[in-house]
Amino acid sequence: MTKETNPIKLFHEECKHQILAQGNDPDLFKTSKKWLNQSSKHKYSYHFSWLGRPIIQLPQDILAIQEIIWNTKPDIVIETGIAHGGSLCFTASMLSLLDVAEINDPIENQNTPKIERKVIGVDIDIRKHNRDAIRSHPLANKIVMLEGSSIEQAIYKEIRELIPDGAKVMIMLDSNHTEEHVLEELRLYKSLVTKNSYLIVCDTIVAQMPPGSFEDRPWDINNNPKGAVEKFLKESKNFVVDTDIDNKLLLSMSPKGYLRRVA
Ligand SMILES: C[S@@+](CC[C@H](N)C(=O)[O-])C[C@H]1O[C@@H](n2cnc3c(N)ncnc32)[C@H](O)[C@@H]1O
Repeated sequence: MTKETNPIKLFHEECKHQILAQGNDPDLFKTSKKWLNQSSKHKYSYHFSWLGRPIIQLPQDILAIQEIIWNTKPDIVIETGIAHGGSLCFTASMLSLLDVAEINDPIENQNTPKIERKVIGVDIDIRKHNRDAIRSHPLANKIVMLEGSSIEQAIYKEIRELIPDGAKVMIMLDSNHTEEHVLEELRLYKSLVTKNSYLIVCDTIVAQMPPGSFEDRPWDINNNPKGAVEKFLKESKNFVVDTDIDNKLLLSMSPKGYLRRVA
């Protein structure tokens, strides 16, 4: 076998080996789990913002989603669960960067994006102060907000109508975290995800947290997005868990929640 000499390829190969090794390190897994459980007592993931809007994600997950968006270049991203809109602004900023990259592409020669890239957010309760702040954000022209439950047929229909023909679609589910709700979302939205794009199920971490961690919420160790993902993967063979992302992050709110459409 010839030895790889290209320095860029070599670097990526090294990273690949290191990521696999850290993913198989039981001590590091235990330490990561301990850190996640301890930090969640302080609501660690609530304390960051993206371009001024609070985003309820771990920085590691934000970085992973950045990599996914850059690598897969979606036109339309659908997000269930808006809250303060930080995640919408993050996605809108990434879609804007994809536009800039496409316009300035030195090889393809200054292409104008054919499809107007947008992020579509759905929330059952968009608070007025959040709606106003998102509407007046500099990236608001990339954001569409719909109010209603993500599993309502009318909302689903509205979303479908907003997707232009031929658009590459990615989806993030971050609304109600009960197994029943997430499974319904997965079944409803799966066909919208384009092949090789991602369907990200947030907060699968609930399954590995101590019981009773969310006193004021219906989700817990036996009722959470992880259970929904497991059931979904048994019935839908078109999606696989991207375990490389789990091995890379270790600190994630969505372990085994990064699903890639393969067929
Ligand atoms: C964890 S927050 C979303 C955080 C946001 N994605 C971010 O990263 O900043 C969950 C949101 O889901 C919304 N939600 C709860 N049930 C819902 C449902 N059935 N349909 C749509 N949104 C829902 C809540 O109102 C809340 O704003």
